[in-house]
Amino acid sequence: MYPGSFDPLTYGHLDIIQRGAAIFDKVIVAILKNAGKEPLFSSAERIAMIEEAVGAGGRVKVDVFDGLLVDYVERMNASVILRGVRAVSDFEFEFQMALMNRRLNSRIETIFMMPSEAYSFVSSRLVKEVGALGGNLSGVVPPHVERSLSARFREARTR
Ligand code: PNS
Repeated sequence: MYPGSFDPLTYGHLDIIQRGAAIFDKVIVAILKNAGKEPLFSSAERIAMIEEAVGAGGRVKVDVFDGLLVDYVERMNASVILRGVRAVSDFEFEFQMALMNRRLNSRIETIFMMPSEAYSFVSSRLVKEVGALGGNLSGVVPPHVERSLSARFREARTR
């Protein structure tokens, strides 16, 4: 289970999805539906973006979840939570989440993978900031995500 906000999907996420698919039989990319703040893209838009990037019929499935992650993992008969760690700064929060999830359900293990160092600076938060200001995001997000970002910020400017 590879959970996250994916608002939007980046090449860093795709790198982890590919690494996960190389060692697990199946990877479920699980999009958190109701994150605390209003997402830029709806869950349907985020599903479509990820499906376009990973293609259909492979080991990777895309789904949306709500509520506690461990409950969803159990419901889906999965046993591993996969998370990407880019730098030491990610570690503290990831460590807390992994241990809290273990406390909530000790049958579920969290596994961390490192994305390529080429993506170690990439985050959805910065992608949105750069996109909102019209910066070039090629090589950071897939072209279809870049187009969706431009369209979303164009809409926002004309509103
Ligand atoms: O991409 P993100 O925003 O870093 O992903 C965070 C996510 C979705 C993995 C985390 O917020 C989560 O699991 N939320 C679901 C609610 C939950 O189970 N919270 C307790 C986590 S210890």
